[in-house]
Amino acid sequence: PVPTPVLAIESSCDDTACAIVASDGAILAEAVLSQSGHIPFGGVVPEIAARAHLAALPALVRHTLDRAGLPPSGLGAIAASTGPGLIGGLIVGAGVAKGLAVALDRPFVAVNHIEAHALTARLPGLVPGGAPFPYLLLLVSGGHCQCIAVEGVGRYRKLGGTIDDAAGEAFDKVAKMLGLGWPGGPAVEALAAEGDPAPYPLPRPLFGRPGCDFSFSGLKTAVAQKLAPFAAGALPRSAAAGIAASFQDAVAAIVADRVAHALDMMPQATLLVAAGGVAANTRLRACLTDLAASRGLPFAAPPLRLCTDNAVMVAWAAIETLRERHARGLPPADDLDLLP
Ligand code: KG4
Ligand code: ZN
Repeated sequence: PVPTPVLAIESSCDDTACAIVASDGAILAEAVLSQSGHIPFGGVVPEIAARAHLAALPALVRHTLDRAGLPPSGLGAIAASTGPGLIGGLIVGAGVAKGLAVALDRPFVAVNHIEAHALTARLPGLVPGGAPFPYLLLLVSGGHCQCIAVEGVGRYRKLGGTIDDAAGEAFDKVAKMLGLGWPGGPAVEALAAEGDPAPYPLPRPLFGRPGCDFSFSGLKTAVAQKLAPFAAGALPRSAAAGIAASFQDAVAAIVADRVAHALDMMPQATLLVAAGGVAANTRLRACLTDLAASRGLPFAAPPLRLCTDNAVMVAWAAIETLRERHARGLPPADDLDLLP
C-alpha cells in the first residue's frame, strides 16, 4: 500500500547523506559524508557546501543502492530534505532526488528537516516502547535550538527557541576563542573534563524565566571577558579547561531549565527526546536524564549518528508521511512542484 523502500537525500547543511529505509523501519543502507572543505574557515561556507553536495551525491546514491543490494527500480519512493537549511545545498539534494523520481516514475516526498529530526525517535527499535505521541523534542544542534511538542505526524508546536545563537553555535564560538578546532563541541567537552569551573562563574541567560526560549549570546560574551585578562598565547591550560567546564555547566543548566519549562507547557508529554549534535554532550545528557526522572518520564536520545544530520531520518519521515496519507485515503504525496 505504501510505496517503499524509500531512498532519501539530506543536504541541508554540511553533511551529504543518503539512505534507504524499508516500510518497517529497517535501514537497508545508510551513508554520510561530512564535508572537510569548511575546516579552514571555522564554520560552514554555504557555497562550498552546495558544490560539495553536487560533487558527492551521484556516487553516494550509487553506493547506497549497492550497499542495499537494490537496483534503482527496486525503490518505491524518493525523498529529500527541502528545508529549512542552506538553500544551495537544498536545491542540489532536491534536484538529484526529483531527477531520480522522474526517471523511475516514483513519488517524490519533500521532507521538512526539523520534522525529520522530530520523528527519528519513532524509528522502530530506537526507543523502548516506540515513542508514542505526544512527546517533547529538544533539538539542539549547530543550526537549531528549540523545544517542540510532537503531537502527531504533521502536528508540531514550537514551544520556544533561541532568540540569538543555537547551543552548538555557542560551543563552536567558545571553542574558537579557546583556540580549539571546529566543530567545537567535542573539543570543548574534552577540555572541560579536566577543568575546575569554580573560579570562573558565568551568567545563565533566561534561566528561571517563564517560557522556554533560549539565549546564549550573553554567555559567549562573558566567556570572552573571562579570557580578556590573558595575553594572546598565554592562556594556561588549567584556566582554559576551567572556563570550558564552566561554560559547559552553564549551557547544560540553561538547557535543562528551559526544557523543564517546556515540560510545564506540555503536561501531556509521555517522553522527553533530545536530538541534534549537542545532544551528544555527556553533561547535558546527564542533566536531561535527571530532569526527566524527576518528572517520572523516560528520556531518550537516538544514537549519535541518527541525532546529527543524516538521511535515515529523512527516509523515515517520508514513510510516516506516506503512511499517514494512506490512512486518510489520500494518494502518495507527490511534491515534484515543491521548491526548497
Ligand atoms: O546536528 P549537528 O551535527 O549539525 C547541525 O548543526 O545540524 O550539530 C553540530 C553541532 C556543532 O555545533 C557541534 O559543535 C555540536 O553540535 N556538538 C557538540 C558535541 N558534539 C557536537 N556540542 C557539545 N558537546 C558535544 N559533545
Ligand atoms: Zn539538523
